[in-house]
Amino acid sequence: MARILIKRWVTTRASLLLLGSLMVVYFLKDIKIVRKDDNPDLKIRQPTKNNSYVYSWPRCQQNISAANMTDFSSFPDFMKDFLYYRHCRHFPMLLDLPDKCGGADKSAEVFLLLVIKSSPPNYDRRAILRKTWAEERLHNGVWIRRIFLSGTTDSGFEKERLNKLLELEQREYSDILQWDFTDTFQNLTLKQILFLEWMERNCPNVRFLLNGDDDVFANTDHMVEYLQGLKDNDGSKHLFTGHLNINMGLVREYNKYFVPVQIYEPNIFPPYCSGGGFLLSGYTALVIYKMSQSIDLLPIDDAYMGMCLEKAGLDPTSHIAVRPLGLNIPSRLDGYDPCFYKEVLLVHGFFSVRMYFMWHRIHDPTLKCDVGKMM
Ligand SMILES: *[C@@H]1O[C@H](CO)[C@@H](O)[C@H](O)[C@H]1NC(C)=O
Ligand SMILES: *[C@@H]1O[C@H](CO)[C@@H](O)[C@H](O)[C@H]1NC(C)=O
Ligand SMILES: *[C@@H]1O[C@H](CO)[C@@H](O)[C@H](O)[C@H]1NC(C)=O
Repeated sequence: MARILIKRWVTTRASLLLLGSLMVVYFLKDIKIVRKDDNPDLKIRQPTKNNSYVYSWPRCQQNISAANMTDFSSFPDFMKDFLYYRHCRHFPMLLDLPDKCGGADKSAEVFLLLVIKSSPPNYDRRAILRKTWAEERLHNGVWIRRIFLSGTTDSGFEKERLNKLLELEQREYSDILQWDFTDTFQNLTLKQILFLEWMERNCPNVRFLLNGDDDVFANTDHMVEYLQGLKDNDGSKHLFTGHLNINMGLVREYNKYFVPVQIYEPNIFPPYCSGGGFLLSGYTALVIYKMSQSIDLLPIDDAYMGMCLEKAGLDPTSHIAVRPLGLNIPSRLDGYDPCFYKEVLLVHGFFSVRMYFMWHRIHDPTLKCDVGKMM
């Protein structure tokens, strides 16, 4: 009797165990599904207040061994910081725009996506751009859309305040992507890669992109017309054009552009376009993203694009009308004559009031320009 009882108990226990492990397997299967999502890495989707989703990652740890690098102790603080966090490529999203392109499938309807790097305090610049060249609109029958890319600045109350400002802007304009990383010059490459990752997920079929800074004047009407006039004008072929830098030397002195020989040995960069503003096709943007996955981050964002292109065997090209260094107009002429800016695609160093005025002047139907006078 006792033996039978024991046996029965054993069988019951065995079936309980079996049932238990089956349940564990079942739940693990579920967990796997949740975690798999669209990226195999550990990544958890969390709903936010306004019902969009943010991706939160385990906080990226400092790489202490970076300090073993020769001369590390003599590097400026920003470079030490860069090296400690160079391997971090995922940061929680604070502001997202999953429907900016109407969903991944419909994103082909966006002809030109304006992707503008802007740090939180640059409120004025964003305000002017929204009213001028970066206005979302239909031009020549195709859609222009706008996105600002932002990290975070400052710390404590001030950081919170600036994040709140972006949140207010987002509520009104729906045009900001923000991640929780420090928005510094050396982190611009990170910003670029985070954007490309986002683009692959949300806007993979946009035709063309203008990637640039928030202090440039871009003639986006003219840009659309230029792109429409290309032989391959559907964004499915390689295009990367702007102000081309060839044989650009590296800076080994300790200033903003410093790149230690320990992380990049050659003395010149591969050809690349200045980051103030360059045009690229959706195809090329995705190729660059793919290449970036196996190239360590470098603190010079535009040169890093050149490295990705080189790895893909693609060349950046030069466009005469992209003038990130300014126009070099003779001083006897009016430097703000709209005729100089009508034919240009992009110029650097334009600020609020002049930007607003110029955008209206070049659209003035009564404006008469003597072509012979141009550049
Ligand atoms: C590099 O730094 C780590 C952490 O500080 C230390 O444990 C390790 O031994 C160092 N490695 C080399 C090769 O010096
Ligand atoms: C940390 O830094 C060391 C020295 O630069 C480097 O060899 C190593 O690959 C880095 N580790 C990570 C996780 O990036
Ligand atoms: C880049 O952002 C990370 C995350 O906020 C930060 O830890 C790091 O210091 C930043 N790097 C630089 C060079 O500012």
